Amino acid sequence: MNNKLWAGRFSKELNKVADDFNSSIPFDSRMYSQDIRGSIAHATMLGMQGIITIDEAHTIINELVKIEEDITEGRLEIDMTAEDVHMFVESVLTERIGDTGKKLHTARSRNDQVALDVRLYLKDETDNIIEDICSLIEALTDKADEYKDAIMPGYTHMQRAQPITFGHHLMAYVSMFMRDIERISEASARMMSASPLGSCALAGTTYNTDRQRTADILGFQYPCRNSLDGVSDRDFAIELCAAYSIAMMHISRLSEEIILWSSWEFKFIELDDSFSTGSSIMPQKKNPDMAELARGKTGRVYGDLMTLLTIMKGTPLAYNKDMQEDKEAIFDAVDTLKACLGVFAPMIKTMRPIRENMYAAAQKGFINATDVADYLVGKGLPFRSAYKITGQLVGKCVAEGKVLDNLSLDEYREFSELFDEDLYGFISLESCVSRRTSYGGTSPESVASQIEYAREFLDAFKIDEE
Ligand code: ARG
Repeated sequence: MNNKLWAGRFSKELNKVADDFNSSIPFDSRMYSQDIRGSIAHATMLGMQGIITIDEAHTIINELVKIEEDITEGRLEIDMTAEDVHMFVESVLTERIGDTGKKLHTARSRNDQVALDVRLYLKDETDNIIEDICSLIEALTDKADEYKDAIMPGYTHMQRAQPITFGHHLMAYVSMFMRDIERISEASARMMSASPLGSCALAGTTYNTDRQRTADILGFQYPCRNSLDGVSDRDFAIELCAAYSIAMMHISRLSEEIILWSSWEFKFIELDDSFSTGSSIMPQKKNPDMAELARGKTGRVYGDLMTLLTIMKGTPLAYNKDMQEDKEAIFDAVDTLKACLGVFAPMIKTMRPIRENMYAAAQKGFINATDVADYLVGKGLPFRSAYKITGQLVGKCVAEGKVLDNLSLDEYREFSELFDEDLYGFISLESCVSRRTSYGGTSPESVASQIEYAREFLDAFKIDEE
């Protein structure tokens, strides 16, 4: 005997191997509470429309509430032999309240049900992710505030370029993560605009449903306008996964810097022991494993995005079982991003920047050469001529193993009569940094205003969230 809910037209039971292959419960069971929330909204609407009686709606809703509590509190174990979470919840409901439970699936299909559940799941998790990004921004901003005057070399092509501050460098990541929050919340808002519930299997229904009602109850703005699209659209998952991938790319770039900075070659930072690991053979080792893992896990999330895009590229309208494959990719992307954010905020909070090492590195590499040229420009020389003279001075330093700061005034004057005593103050690292007061630049005041903006952004976001 076939014990499936859809068993009516079959004369044989599903082959065991096929049953296992077909089943999604091992992974979709995590959406039980979203599934129940959707069913409660649906039952409410059925009752209000007179499709089932108000009493029946109450009975169904009360039992669904209990089922949710029972699962959450461990009194009801999810049956891993069920086909999927939707069937599991419905069959427990029917076991408990009998025939009334069988009315829940009126004017609904698993196709609109799953399209809804995945949206509700992603909405909940996206809210958590945004909160986690906020914590990371807070950790970076606090560290930037503490080190907004710590001078380090800024790089282009991985070559020392111009002096910047460590605070300025960290605030660049804050800009990226603020964009991530905007991108992710925009995608989430778009996802929550149109409700698929009530699209039914594909064609809509003959019952007198009120799709705006269920949309309102579940936090959507309106019902989706086309039922075929409603059941088969997974754009929202792709879009969110793309936004998650970009956030992972930012985490990965930061990871790469943390790995470099904690190497003996740089030693700009020291990670806290509680966020570092050792080697089983080399007793001296202290490894930045968290950052390396996050860099590695970025590939998983990109892979999840590619999985979703590839699942969808060849599916004709409307629902196809291929779409069941979306869930593991979505869940993996969510889990991975959350795990990385979870470890990064406290790792940044506890990391110890080493000012003297950053400063010492900034003293090498002629990173104040632009400022020597700017000095000459200030004395009236065109920039290109100033640039050429400075290049020759750097050439002399390289040949003689000197740095720009300790060439004598006579040596400078061999190249231009415009050089004077005030040059040395002008090209000190501190003045190079503090003169870069342009909007967004590296001067401590400019970084302070970037920090102020980030804090306002976080506050505004928290108010929005409430
Ligand atoms: N487990 C399925 C999924 O995740 C639910 C929808 C199944 N619908 C169907 N007609 N087979 O996509």
